[in-house]
Amino acid sequence: MSELIEIKAETTGFGAEIGGVDLGSEISDEAFAAIRAAIVKHKVLVFREQHLDDDKHLAFAQRFGPLEGHINRSSRHSDLPKIQIFGNVDGDGNIIGYHPEKGTLVWHTDKSYVATPSLFTILRSPAVARQGGDTLFADMVRAYEDLDAAEQTRLDGLRAVHDWKRSREKSDERAATADEIAAAPPVDHPLIRTHPETKARAIYMGNHASHILDWDQGDGEALLAALERHATQEKYVYRHQWRDNDVLMWDNRCTIHCVTGYDAAKERRVVHRAVVQGDVPV
Ligand SMILES: [Fe+2]
Repeated sequence: MSELIEIKAETTGFGAEIGGVDLGSEISDEAFAAIRAAIVKHKVLVFREQHLDDDKHLAFAQRFGPLEGHINRSSRHSDLPKIQIFGNVDGDGNIIGYHPEKGTLVWHTDKSYVATPSLFTILRSPAVARQGGDTLFADMVRAYEDLDAAEQTRLDGLRAVHDWKRSREKSDERAATADEIAAAPPVDHPLIRTHPETKARAIYMGNHASHILDWDQGDGEALLAALERHATQEKYVYRHQWRDNDVLMWDNRCTIHCVTGYDAAKERRVVHRAVVQGDVPV
């Protein structure tokens, strides 16, 4: 038997806390398979009291498949480019006074602006804000399932355009560079995608989605905004309040997420991220 213990999150039945495993150790094939099954089943996993460095973080993440770098090269770890660092602390340990990636403050699913968006994201937080800086997740399968049949039929077959450049504009971030735009031109994905493992249908959108393919721009924006309002109702959301030494992992194929605000002038908040490459959404 695996040493793994699963505890379902109490609030929404979405997400699970996993105990009895040290992610920094040699994880047995059996325990790894249980984690792999748990992430698909629960969509978000929380591992408490993990003491990972970047090498161990990377090693754990790589067991799930090839990792991807970030299009924003400035966030890449200097020695380990497959680890991305986001935080309000500079290399000398000084607070820079602002949250460096505004796009993380709005609902999104990782890297949906590329043809093969992220599969799993694995995050740890060496510096945790004491107030705010929570990570919120919305369950896009349940949000889809709760739409009435006529609405589901209306949405099935639509494609949303995802655009890094437009996403940056919407989140009031620095403009995308020419290199970034060349690396990530707009792509379109099904608005309702089918999870390749569970076969569940999920709404697939978020801030990177700019409009609906072949629709009037404003009509598409309105539809996306309405879907986001629907999907991020409290009943679909898991709020992760970070504790020291947490590791958080999620399935980008069926969730969207964002960070809540915190006092970036006073609080230290740093996350290290590894992202597993995904497939073309269908
Ligand atoms: Fe993200």
